[in-house]
Amino acid sequence: MQLTDEEKGMRDGAEGDATAAAMDLLIRYGEALGAEHLCRVRNVAGTMTQPSPVKHKLVKEGGWAKSYSVINLDTDRDVELPRMKVPTCQLQSGFGPDSIGIAPYPKENVELQTTGESYFGAHGVNILSTCTPYQVGNLPTRGEHVAWMESSAVVYANSVLGARTNCEGGASTGSASLTGRVPCWGNHKDENRYGTALFDVRTEVSSFQDWGLLGYFVGDQVQEGRPVVTGDGIRLPELADLKHFGAATATAGGVELFHIPGITPEAPTVEAAFGGAAAPEAIAFGEAERRWAYDTLNSQGESDEVDFILLGCPHASLDQLQRIAAALDGKRLHNDTEMWIMTPRALRTIADASGYTEVIERAGAKILTDSCPAMSKAAPDGTRVFASDSAKQVHYLPAILGIEGWFGTLEDCVDAAVTGRWRGELR
Ligand code: F3S
Repeated sequence: MQLTDEEKGMRDGAEGDATAAAMDLLIRYGEALGAEHLCRVRNVAGTMTQPSPVKHKLVKEGGWAKSYSVINLDTDRDVELPRMKVPTCQLQSGFGPDSIGIAPYPKENVELQTTGESYFGAHGVNILSTCTPYQVGNLPTRGEHVAWMESSAVVYANSVLGARTNCEGGASTGSASLTGRVPCWGNHKDENRYGTALFDVRTEVSSFQDWGLLGYFVGDQVQEGRPVVTGDGIRLPELADLKHFGAATATAGGVELFHIPGITPEAPTVEAAFGGAAAPEAIAFGEAERRWAYDTLNSQGESDEVDFILLGCPHASLDQLQRIAAALDGKRLHNDTEMWIMTPRALRTIADASGYTEVIERAGAKILTDSCPAMSKAAPDGTRVFASDSAKQVHYLPAILGIEGWFGTLEDCVDAAVTGRWRGELR
């Protein structure tokens, strides 16, 4: 590993013990991957406050500095934590104070997280508390090297923003925050950003649901490849559609980068998406493939009696909140049904000011921030059957909570919330 003088200085303790531990970790990590040098990063999206049994124990023993040392720097030494060297944000955490009395989630976790936010806020971490930092102002520029966690955020950063990140972990982001470096490998390098598979979309893909179904099929087909998606069926997506599409590809597979020629920034053409190399034979996405994705996602639903509806995975955008409010306006949730809508804290504030929250709450639904049922392993007490418009949440939540799951449109989900019955169909 080639190091600059500044990096050698950090390794040797010129910027303190914590930074030395961070640089040591990055060198070990980079060497294991065969990276020849480190990339400079000035945007880190990681996690440090999310409660876990280990974190409770470490914070009790030695405060948040201890937790950061062990979990985010992989050292048992007691190190003093400086301010973060580069802009860093906290991604999604556990449920926060707004969940008290709504989500069956341990109060001690909420308290732990709250103390963590004060501690890390004072150390230069922006407490965004969302899986969609790009929706609340954390936007790297095209070509910028960043260090992000969270699969749905990583695929969005690489593909839609044209930034460059691998799917990092708590330790590598923790170390990147203190050093402004991350091993330069994988998605940071030009040669690893070209397509590996081609898709020909032959059926219309225009709605939020369509983009989720396409993403689920594409992810299943390519697994960790880099899909290039083209075809006459594609209609210009909104950002929420691309968010859903990317999250679905990273759920059914492990996609970290996709190209949609003419839409995403690194692929003005199919040729450019493959770096000038010959494109492989296209995989078709037609009605049969769309049906496969829908039926696979809905294979975890049996009973049509729905207890719980979850919207906002990845966390809802303002446009989505506005649409949800419009769909719920003048309606009232069924007595046996609950609906939670996940969104970033910052957007919740705007939803409050814009009157969306009032409309949503008047219908009996709740807006929650910071987390989601899959992340915090919590749904309303007694939930047996849930429904969502998110392919990712429907894929994961049944296994996490041992419940049934239905996937449909926003309209299907609102209908289920109001009637207590699942009547969704692929249209
Ligand atoms: Fe976000 Fe939870 Fe979905 S963290 S991407 S809302 S699974």
